[in-house]
Amino acid sequence: MIVFASGAYQSMAAAIGKTSERALGKFRTARFENGEMHVEVQTSPLNEHCLILGSIAPPDEQLVSVLLLAHTLKKEGARRVIAAFPYLAYARHDKDKPGESLAAAWAGALIQASGIDQLITVDVHSERAKALFQVPVISLSPAELFAEVLRGHSLRDATIVAPDGGAIGRCQAVKVAAGLADDQIPYFEKHRTPTGITHSGPLGEVGRRVVMVDDILDTGGTLLSACEKLRAAGVGDISIMVTHGLFTGERWKALWRLGVKRIFCTDSVPLPAGLDADRIVRLPLAPLLEFTLRGLA
Ligand code: R5P
Repeated sequence: MIVFASGAYQSMAAAIGKTSERALGKFRTARFENGEMHVEVQTSPLNEHCLILGSIAPPDEQLVSVLLLAHTLKKEGARRVIAAFPYLAYARHDKDKPGESLAAAWAGALIQASGIDQLITVDVHSERAKALFQVPVISLSPAELFAEVLRGHSLRDATIVAPDGGAIGRCQAVKVAAGLADDQIPYFEKHRTPTGITHSGPLGEVGRRVVMVDDILDTGGTLLSACEKLRAAGVGDISIMVTHGLFTGERWKALWRLGVKRIFCTDSVPLPAGLDADRIVRLPLAPLLEFTLRGLA
């Protein structure tokens, strides 16, 4: 299998290549004078299984570059093209509302049309999104990585709490992976209002030490609102585990003032520059991806 990695995923590709001795493929993206994109594949994919490691957004231009790359690999005779997008952008846009775009279905159709045969991602937002992606999707669970954190940071006695109903399954998976009793998960009910996110809860006993588990920390709105409620309930020590740390904007930084000690996230997306490296702990995905690729070879 030849691995073609886009810019931000070069080090993950190198880590995968190091353990498996997979060849790293070379390609180049450029633009015509008027800005239209162009891809040149410099490693022949003829009759090869190819892996594209990258992301389709943000920014959106990644969508054009990885899909143009997939199309070029197929055109040049690749036997099979697998895309590993550790963070599957647009998967959150999975609800069909009249008059609004259904971006998960749209992105899925483009991925299929570009010749990608198999998609691998980590912790896809929902089963509904997975079904909309029109190509076979393997969604890897980060539960083992988070369970390892619970063990390594003496957090096994903390209460695992879900910031909304959609995160309950993620919390249960982490508890099972950590060998903890799979009992009721305290959770919040999340309400979206025109002015932002509000929470009611927590529903269930939370104690004084909490680990909150979710798939995405984007602006931090969801976790901030839940942390405010936890503080009001007397929780003094909060850790956060998110699969995808997007850390958009500045608002999420208020989490530190609400008693959050550490944020653990995978390296599914590059970290914005200048973030507090002591309190944001990154969990490498390369071993999990490599293990999965071995099963596909
Ligand atoms: C929503 O359903 C997701 O699971 C996350 O809770 C959400 O996308 C996080 O976004 P933000 O950090 O902007 O609240």
